Amino acid sequence: MLNTVSRYYFSANGKHIRPLLVMLIAQATSIATKRRGRTSILVDSDPHVKSGLTILPTHRRLAEITEMIHTSSLLHDDVIDHAETRRGLPAIQKRFGNKMAIFAGDFLLARASMALARLRDPEVIEIMASVLCDLVDGEFKQLKNLEDEDAPMAQPDESAFEYYLEKTYLKTGSLIAKSCRSSAILSNSTDDIVEAAYIYGRNLGIAFQLIDDLLDFTVSSTEFGKPVGADLELGLATAPVLYAWQEFPELGPLVARKFSGEGDVARAWDLVHASSGVERTRALARRYVERANEALSILPSSSATQALERVTLSVLTRTK
Ligand code: FPP
Ligand code: MG
Repeated sequence: MLNTVSRYYFSANGKHIRPLLVMLIAQATSIATKRRGRTSILVDSDPHVKSGLTILPTHRRLAEITEMIHTSSLLHDDVIDHAETRRGLPAIQKRFGNKMAIFAGDFLLARASMALARLRDPEVIEIMASVLCDLVDGEFKQLKNLEDEDAPMAQPDESAFEYYLEKTYLKTGSLIAKSCRSSAILSNSTDDIVEAAYIYGRNLGIAFQLIDDLLDFTVSSTEFGKPVGADLELGLATAPVLYAWQEFPELGPLVARKFSGEGDVARAWDLVHASSGVERTRALARRYVERANEALSILPSSSATQALERVTLSVLTRTK
């Protein structure tokens, strides 16, 4: 039963962006400068060895671990958010109930922890373990924001955007950034390259979540694979709302009462669409995408760095 429930989301068509990035960073860093003192095992059967670009078995395992941590967090998230659908399927708890969803999430996390320990790399273990703290911290910040009893602001100030972006890094950027960092470490890269991999993942991760928050206002549920308008229903004021609020101060009281009043969700939806919130969110995501691609310039140009650039740009145009 535990296996069936744990496998449920893996059976659907996920985007696998996190494992893809781990593998591409592995290849991109395989031909970059190396630290001394570490040994690595090459797999001769790997077709990329001929081109000089290599993926180690430890990279493959890291890619699996990353997707398992992500899926584990989704199993918990869908219970917290009362999700209806995910990846075009009924949400996990709709199918198996809350308890099973939580157990399956814990089970996946436990299996990911075992696989992480088996990498026998204390630096990577520590970094990836810190992601788990960040995920919870991000969710907690989201919740705390909701429970803030402060008087409604006339307009979102600088700190409201800062808080939102910090939360965005913690809930989405951290796993992507630290998986990229770990992938570079497993390639035995020098510190500057490890740092560049992290900066790349951090900026890409934030852009990815900004677009996720934007798609909540712009695509159909069928295309997205999960309900749209969900963030307003959950009481969340994401980037499109924060920008809209700058143009329409009357959004302030709605944000403060978490869109809980009669007709609040529909009103906020209309104000976001009447504002430039969606375009400004896309422009903000574009700036993060540019920063991500700038970080790649330290790496020797290869088919892997080109693919990384394409992945980054595709984040801006994705519809699911
Ligand atoms: C999706 O966000 C949720 C996350 C990115 C992180 C969720 C993290 C936790 C529940 C903490 C527990 C962590 C573990 C590893 C068990 P979203 O709700 O904005 O996106 P969605 O629209 O896809 O649901
Ligand atoms: Mg959710």
